[in-house]
This record gives sequence, C-alpha cells and structure tokens, in this order.
Amino acid sequence: MSIELLVKLKERRAVVGVIGLGYVGLPLAVEFARGGLKVIGFDLDKSRVDSINRGQSYIPDVQTEMVGALVERGNLAAATDFSRLAETDAVIICVPTPLRKTKEPDISYILAAAEEVKAYLHSPQLVVLESTTYPGTTDEVVLPMLKDTGLTLDKDFFLAFSPERVDPGNKQYQTHNIPKVVGGVSAASTETAAALYKTIVGEVHTVSSARVAETAKLLENTYRSVNIGLVNEMAQLCYHLGIDSWEVIEAAATKPFGFMAFYPGPGIGGHCIPLDPHYLSWKARLHGFEARFIGLAEDVNSHMPNHVVQLVQDGLNAQTKPVKGSRILVVGVAYKRDINDVRESPALGIVDQLIHKGASVSYHDPFVPEMSVDGRGALASVALTDETLSACDCAVIVTDHSDVDYGRVLKLAPLVVDTRNVTRRLAMPEHEGKVVRL
Ligand SMILES: NC(=O)c1ccc[n+]([C@@H]2O[C@H](COP(=O)([O-])OP(=O)(O)OC[C@H]3O[C@@H](n4cnc5c(N)ncnc54)[C@H](O)[C@@H]3O)[C@@H](O)[C@H]2O)c1
Repeated sequence: MSIELLVKLKERRAVVGVIGLGYVGLPLAVEFARGGLKVIGFDLDKSRVDSINRGQSYIPDVQTEMVGALVERGNLAAATDFSRLAETDAVIICVPTPLRKTKEPDISYILAAAEEVKAYLHSPQLVVLESTTYPGTTDEVVLPMLKDTGLTLDKDFFLAFSPERVDPGNKQYQTHNIPKVVGGVSAASTETAAALYKTIVGEVHTVSSARVAETAKLLENTYRSVNIGLVNEMAQLCYHLGIDSWEVIEAAATKPFGFMAFYPGPGIGGHCIPLDPHYLSWKARLHGFEARFIGLAEDVNSHMPNHVVQLVQDGLNAQTKPVKGSRILVVGVAYKRDINDVRESPALGIVDQLIHKGASVSYHDPFVPEMSVDGRGALASVALTDETLSACDCAVIVTDHSDVDYGRVLKLAPLVVDTRNVTRRLAMPEHEGKVVRL
C-alpha cells in the first residue's frame, strides 16, 4: 500500500496517463482533466496527438470547446513520446482489442502498450487496464511483464482491471455517471484504483479480483449479443409467419416484470458486441468448455445482413424487378444512430452483397462522408435530395439517424426496406405495399 500515492489521488494532485486516445481513452482523459487532475494522453497516431494539443476533438461525444479549455488550463496534453510516462502517477490502457481472422483474441495492442508502461514503471505507480479482454489477461499477461522490472507489487506498483462502459452517442449516460467496476490483482491494487476513479465517477463498485472485473464486462456484452440474437431470430421467424415482429415486441414489453425489450436490426456492429463475446468463448474453450449461447447469437446476428438483402430482393420481386441493375440507396451506414463509426457495421455486408448481385448501390449518411467496402474501393455519401430518392428503385434504411426525414424517404422512394421500424408511425394507406419492415 502506498499512502503517498493514495493521498495524491484523493487530493487530485496525481498525474494520469491515458494510453490510446480513441472512443474510450479521449472521453476518459477529458473527464480526469475536468476533475482537476493533470492528464497526459498517449497515442501512436500523431494526427490525434496534434489535434488534442491544438485543442481540437475528433470524437463526436467530446466537445472541441472542452478540449480547448482543458489544454489551455494545462490539465490536458497529448504525446507520442512514451518517455513522458515517467511523469505519471497512474496510467490507464485503452487500446483496441480486435479479433484475428480466425476470431481469436488479438491482444497485441495491449502487449505493445504494456511494454511502454514496463519501460517507464516507477515507484509508486498505478497501472489500470481498461481494454475489453479475456479473463486472466491482467493477471497472466500484464502482471508478469511489470514484475519483470524487478519492482514489487503492492509496494512499488499496483495493477487493476476496470472495464470501460462508454456508449458512444448516449446523451444521458457518459463517463461520469456510469458506475465503474474495479478489480485489482491484489487488495491494495483494488483500493488504489478505486481511489483513482472516485475522483471522476459517482459510483465505484469494487470486486474481489481483476478476473471478476474482466468477466463482468464480457457478461454485459454477451447479454446484449444473446438478447439481440433472440429478437433477430424472432424477426426472421415472424417474417416467415407474416407477423409484424415490432408489434409483437411492443405488446410483450407491456409486461411490467420479467421482460426487457430488445429490438431486431440489420446486424450488430462497432468495436464491442460483435467481438467481445469471442474473447470469453475463446478462453472457455481453452478450459474445455464450449459456450453455446455465444456461438448461436453470433451465428444469428452475423446472418442478419443476408436477411436484409433477402428483404430487398423480395420487395423488388413484388414490383417485378431484379436486384441486378436496380438502383439501391442505403440510408445510414454507421453501426448505430447518430454516430460516425462504421467498424463492423452491418451496412458493409449489405452493400457488398447487393453490389455482388449486380445492384448499383449508393448511400446517404450525414455522419459518414466516405466509406470503403472491402475490395470494392471507397463510396462517398450522396445528398438525400428529392431526385436521389425518386431515382432509386429501393431505399434501405439501415441506420436510424435522427436527422433524416423518413417521411420524405417514404413518400418519394418507390420501395422502402425499413430495418429499424422508423416508418411505422409515418406510413399511410397509400404506402401500402411499398414498405418492407424487418
Ligand atoms: N468504443 C466503445 O464503445 C467501447 C466501449 C467499451 C469498451 N471498449 C473497449 O475499449 C478499448 C478501446 O476501444 P476504442 O473504441 O477506444 O478504440 P479506438 O480504436 O477508438 O482507439 C484506440 C486508440 O488507441 C491507439 N493505439 C493503438 N495502439 C496503441 C499503442 N500501442 N500506444 C498508444 N496508442 C495506441 C489508436 O491509435 C487509437 O487512437 C477496446 O478494448 C474496446 O473493446 C470500447
């Protein structure tokens, strides 16, 4: 236990390093800086570092004015030079955790960041891993690296895992009002990390180990994946039975207990839900356990783009048109509403399949000016003019951004495939037969 470090944290005199200034790291760095601590953000991407030092944000949830004010006040700076880790009392790792092509965890970014931390580890210092990863990463991978320095756990350094729960685009819940789970590799590590987060978060929930904290995060994301998988299956089932799945869910959701509504969609995207459950099933498999729900949900969710393409095909067919040669306008390509992130977006698979079938595909997304589809080069967003809408054969609503006039889409496009139920309350009798809802 380092009383000196605890006091520094509690009195907000600590310098906090944040490694990886993306969707997770930048809001976190800004929150600590707003809390009065001095923050140095580290990133390999020089353009991001330069942008922060100029006082400019590149993450939609983080206001440029806020970054500017914090940089000016001297609370926030960014660097590509990791030797500045020597100035920090606590360092938090927020680097990506993708999957390899084989769907196995790729923790190479964590390893690279931990190497930098190791090179500048000093006494007393707190290290926290926030990147989502499989249970055991903090104990089995990061701890031995830090011990290699010859410094001693609980005397010289402290190590914990604390999962990030940020939900990009969510106006109600942001870093400061989302409870933080913290689990250290030792009791003193848990206590020190909890002291760090208490400077910026209202509620800190400590658990008995880093493994529990790592697994809690994976349960949260697996819970979403499995429930989304269930409603996606229901949506397909209802389509085959000719029943409106949205009306079914709306009715079931009137039950005040024992039911939580999840909604179907064109598939899942982003850096978390499609990837994280694989971290858990991979680790389980190493211990001889097959996580069946995870695999099944992944299977259903990853096939949703195929189902959407089928809806387009069925809708065009009903109007005696083939997919080949049809002009298809995809409305919204980000993986969810009001954000600019297309990572793992189902729109990518939908566009790819439609092009493969010979359709002429364009897209409109106010948040995504350009999008590249694997092996097909880049597409640029087109304006949603009356001409664009009237000239297409089918508009496919993939993402329900708030700032789109769906009434106009419904009025002008000859066929609308709606994967988000945004046309439900807008549809009039005259639209009969021209809307295909998921
Ligand atoms: N985006 C989300 O909504 C979200 C939510 C919860 C948890 N997470 C988890 O948080 C982690 C980070 O995700 P993200 O969305 O912020 O990723 P991101 O890609 O937006 O940002 C990661 C940043 O890390 C930088 N980086 C990569 N390697 C580095 C290194 N060795 N040193 C310094 N910087 C490095 C990249 O340049 C990039 O700026 C992942 O494990 C993710 O699963 C993400």
